[in-house]
Amino acid sequence: MIPDDGVSGLAHLRSAGVSLLLDARAPGLPSVVAWGPDLGDASPAELVAVADAAVPAVAQSALDVPVPVSLLPERSLGYRGRPGLSGSRAGRDFSTAFVLDRLEPDGEGGLLVAASDPVARLSVRIELRLHPSGLLQMRHRLSNDGDEPYALDELAAVLPVPARARELFDLTGRWLRERAPQRHPFVQGAFLREGRRGRTGFDASLVLAAGTPGFGNRTGEVWGVHLGWSGDSRLWAEQGSDGHAVLGAAELLGSGELVLGPGEQHLTPSVFAAYSRRGLDGIGDAFHDHLRARPHHPRTPRPVVLNTWEAVYFDHDLARLTALADVGAEVGAERFVLDDGWFRGRRDDTAGLGDWYVDPQVWPEGLTPLIAHVRSRGLDFGLWVEPEMVNVDSDLHRAHPDWVLGVPGRMPPAWRDQQVLDLTVPEAWEHILGRLDALLSENDIAYLKWDHNRDLVEAADREGRPAVHAQTLAVYRLLDTLRERHPGVEIESCSSGGARVDLGILERTDRVWGSDANDALERQGIQRWTSLLLPPELVGSHVGPPHAHTTGRSAGLSFRVGTALFGSFGFEWDLTTTDAAERELLKAAVADYKRLRELLHTGRLVHADVPDPSALLHGVVAQDGSTALFCYAQLTSSAYETPPAVLLPGLDPDRRYRVTPLPVAGGHRGIQRSSPPWWDAGSNVQSGRTLAVAGLRLPVLNPEQALLLELHAES
Ligand code: DGJ
Repeated sequence: MIPDDGVSGLAHLRSAGVSLLLDARAPGLPSVVAWGPDLGDASPAELVAVADAAVPAVAQSALDVPVPVSLLPERSLGYRGRPGLSGSRAGRDFSTAFVLDRLEPDGEGGLLVAASDPVARLSVRIELRLHPSGLLQMRHRLSNDGDEPYALDELAAVLPVPARARELFDLTGRWLRERAPQRHPFVQGAFLREGRRGRTGFDASLVLAAGTPGFGNRTGEVWGVHLGWSGDSRLWAEQGSDGHAVLGAAELLGSGELVLGPGEQHLTPSVFAAYSRRGLDGIGDAFHDHLRARPHHPRTPRPVVLNTWEAVYFDHDLARLTALADVGAEVGAERFVLDDGWFRGRRDDTAGLGDWYVDPQVWPEGLTPLIAHVRSRGLDFGLWVEPEMVNVDSDLHRAHPDWVLGVPGRMPPAWRDQQVLDLTVPEAWEHILGRLDALLSENDIAYLKWDHNRDLVEAADREGRPAVHAQTLAVYRLLDTLRERHPGVEIESCSSGGARVDLGILERTDRVWGSDANDALERQGIQRWTSLLLPPELVGSHVGPPHAHTTGRSAGLSFRVGTALFGSFGFEWDLTTTDAAERELLKAAVADYKRLRELLHTGRLVHADVPDPSALLHGVVAQDGSTALFCYAQLTSSAYETPPAVLLPGLDPDRRYRVTPLPVAGGHRGIQRSSPPWWDAGSNVQSGRTLAVAGLRLPVLNPEQALLLELHAES
């Protein structure tokens, strides 16, 4: 990094092929000269030349000065896009003119920018860090230096993208179909994605990206932003007729939700921004490398989970569950997770939420007999909870009807018969903490599946003010406190499947539940796009029953296993219904997962750009290039009689690899008269270079079949 040296007035951050160049020569907030490809080891004089050359002409019938995109774009400098800061003191001080006070290294490889506006009596500190992964992290701290309250409407991170980024990409979705991609041209105006669900949402953008036209999984330049926050959000891409084009992200605040009293401060959630020269895979790499470098990233082998939900639903019966655990142990499961239905009054999904006591009718001796049995079979034990929710039909609600999050005097519409518990009420927060703490202290629990099964509607605190912000922070505090008290317990973020997937919740949880769709076909897409943000070890993925409960679709075992393998693997299936032959296949599948999980959970993800839209090709390549596992998944029927040559990208071009089919859970033989000769021969040896450009032919697959290929370098 070249911090502001007092001479050049520029700051240059570089990491992993990414540059961020700031120009602090004007008295205001630094402008962003460039965020994107590495500018190289340029001298201060060269950087000055770059910054000078980036200043545009002044057009006719326009402002008489060039308008920069500063770190917090301001109207006072002529910026007419969405401003970085919106707020006022009853209409006054709605616009700022920040003066730079300091631009200095933060001592940890980042930059600290401090600026103040003596007229509006506001000051801001911007923390910027370009991580070794190339991921840029940015957050703002705003202080009210005045004598009157300042109502904050929005405080955003805004980053310019170059004119060649002409195509937009993000994700949307719904229950069972999280993370469906959408893309369209980046034209003038604003493309705005708002999350107003009080949780991250099935339909969250996850990453809003702009790229060069036609960018793919492995090609083109891409710039993307993610908001590390689990409440309401705004992400946008905006282009003006003056030529500016930006990506922006901010927490979405309700009217009057954040009012800073004199001397008070507000710290925004972090915005994460990635640049890639190698298509979307480069964006994924930056996020994965960043997440994997965190000290608290899960590094122990991700256990094989056996979850009870689709196996027994609410039918909690000790004999049935111990029998399930026995089969789980037989096939090699390592963690038994008792899902919804264990607590007081919870015989179905209409009652009981909030009463976090083991139901004495169902469990007269508590959970101990089940836990002891599970432990005796060598599995650890996990428990489902949904601490942020309450059923009206619960003792908790009968005792504290005023603990429902909503405008006082009216009840928000129910969702799955439940309401949100107002965790901004200190007594409610303490009560829930106390119950969770007691459960974890009294029982041998290694894992919590922490669920959250509804959107927040009209979320208001007891005074009737918008409260998504405070509720989100209260949930974070609850998780943080529990983790401090029970540091060994892992937590999964589940939200009706994958409706709470973001880097805010992942600061305090150890994996997310990808989706309630255990249907492998749906999961292929859901997992592909979840992996734009998260590496596979953070995404729960279970082998479901032959007929998917949520979609009614049937799929063979090999496809189901071959899909779940590329995640934090497990089962969600009544394994007691399997026969001896199936169990042998499951044992072999678990053995494959255990053998491969280090590769799967530390390697680099690869998503090929395949010419046949009916198929997906993805894989994981070891960081040192020595091994790899690829999956060719046939999603729908192909327009071709036989699959086009499959090119395997991302390998070391100079090494020779032996490619061997991995017939996971029995595998697929294909539906051709004769297989490609190399397939019949059992393996093929080629260099990474030729595998990427000449590739391999594969057997012919029916829809919902997948072939797995294992690669080992021989040289
Ligand atoms: C929704 C989750 O996504 C499911 O896996 C299951 O835990 C149910 N909730 C239980 O109510």
